[in-house]
Amino acid sequence: MKRIVVVAAMLALSAGAVVAQQDQVNKTQAQMKETGKNAGAIAAMIKGEKPYDQATVDAALAKFEDTAKKLPTLFPESTKGLKPEGDYSASPKIWEDKAGFESHIASFTKVVADTKGKVKDVDTLKAEMPGLFKQCGGCHETYRLKKG
Ligand code: HEC
Repeated sequence: MKRIVVVAAMLALSAGAVVAQQDQVNKTQAQMKETGKNAGAIAAMIKGEKPYDQATVDAALAKFEDTAKKLPTLFPESTKGLKPEGDYSASPKIWEDKAGFESHIASFTKVVADTKGKVKDVDTLKAEMPGLFKQCGGCHETYRLKKG
């Protein structure tokens, strides 16, 4: 009897842990989607589809900074193998090559910090942003998987 209780308690615990991990995966994806939305707003200004807007630029850079700060905790080892609902998921390389992943976070963080305060108009936007977006692509290339 006691054993059954223990087993039941353990099952409940691990089910709770899986829910928490899936929750983290969904939160991570929401953070990246928000980041993507902000990048899209910037891209529209670079392409001239939208007029230059300083508030949009500042909000995007604040979001990128927030993402850079959160990236080190967005992918705990316990979420390895879990998939969010969207089109992308985390590559196992995040945990297999932790040093490489962390160095991408560090360089992204640095570029975001360097870019802050430099963008004042559409010319500086066009000068600064491609380098920053390269950081996004550089990490995705290795550490993000397209679900197929
Ligand atoms: C250090 C690595 C890293 C950096 C830097 C990074 N990302 Fe990501 N990104 C990921 C990983 C890993 C995923 C896959 C996990 C996921 O989709 O939840 C992802 C997923 C995404 C997604 C897909 C979300 C979905 O629908 O599944 C978007 C959009 C995105 N990133 C945008 C950006 C943008 C824009 C930048 C730069 C401003 C950026 N990311 C910088 C690692 C990074």
